[in-house]
Amino acid sequence: MMWWRPDPFVLGGSGRAHLKVQGLAAGYGPFLVLRELQLEARPGLTVILGPNGAGKSTLLKALAGLIPRRGWVTLDGDELSEKTHEIVRAGIALVAEGRQLFPQMTVTENLELGGWLLSRPERVRRLEQAFADFPKLRERAQQLAGTMSGGEQQMVAVARAMMSAPRLLMLDEPSLGLAPKMVDELLAIARRIADAGITVLMVEQNVKKALAVADRGYVLERGALVASGPARLLARSAVVREAYLGAAAADTTSAAAAVSRQAARAAIA
Ligand SMILES: Nc1ncnc2c1ncn2[C@@H]1O[C@H](COP(=O)(O)OP(=O)(O)OP(=O)(O)O)[C@@H](O)[C@H]1O
Ligand SMILES: [Mg+2]
Repeated sequence: MMWWRPDPFVLGGSGRAHLKVQGLAAGYGPFLVLRELQLEARPGLTVILGPNGAGKSTLLKALAGLIPRRGWVTLDGDELSEKTHEIVRAGIALVAEGRQLFPQMTVTENLELGGWLLSRPERVRRLEQAFADFPKLRERAQQLAGTMSGGEQQMVAVARAMMSAPRLLMLDEPSLGLAPKMVDELLAIARRIADAGITVLMVEQNVKKALAVADRGYVLERGALVASGPARLLARSAVVREAYLGAAAADTTSAAAAVSRQAARAAIA
């Protein structure tokens, strides 16, 4: 018999969340970074690509309620609040750029902070789940987060976000600054989370690797979408190959036809 009772707002991370964004605008004070953005994240792994300064982090911050936004955002058809704590309660978690761990706290303490909305028994259960999902962290449970390698810290950051049993997990450049092997490991973790039924929306600079693990993708440039489509087709499209993969000649046949350039309007079926 189970002795713990999950909090009612936690759906166990398998809610198959569907996020829809329409006419989104966000920025900093009078400086508007995103305008009229239209996209969606369905169950699976959706990647956001784009050059530095395109507005990728701004998008995730706006969805997480960290900066003000205008427009319509729905989660499974329900309008999403703009308040951070209500967004967390709705089942959305963000692993922000730069991890933002507490370096003087242990791995366990950092993870426990990710479960601040949970009852104590549920937090204990989720912590055990985190260690089961990330066995490398169990070995390091009492290590100070600040003394871990970059890759290990990123793993803690992802595990901490998973503590809230999110239905939609947003990852901002999880592989930033990591060695190729760790990049692969982090992207594999993102894939595994998506395969577990959680909707993952991930910003990534490793275009080729990201498109290899993602289901769908969007390309954001100067605050607007310039392409979107299934990841496999995006990887072969002219817009991605020319700008991001350094291909001299792009396959402009089927891929170009299937991937919509200037696809903001086509993004929502
Ligand atoms: N706190 C802030 N205040 C003012 N402007 C900001 C702030 N954060 C970001 N910006 C600006 O917003 C624009 C988009 O930045 P953002 O961080 O969203 O880009 P990005 O696509 O995530 O880039 P990168 O790949 O370098 O992380 C940039 O012009 C940036 O200078
Ligand atoms: Mg960024």
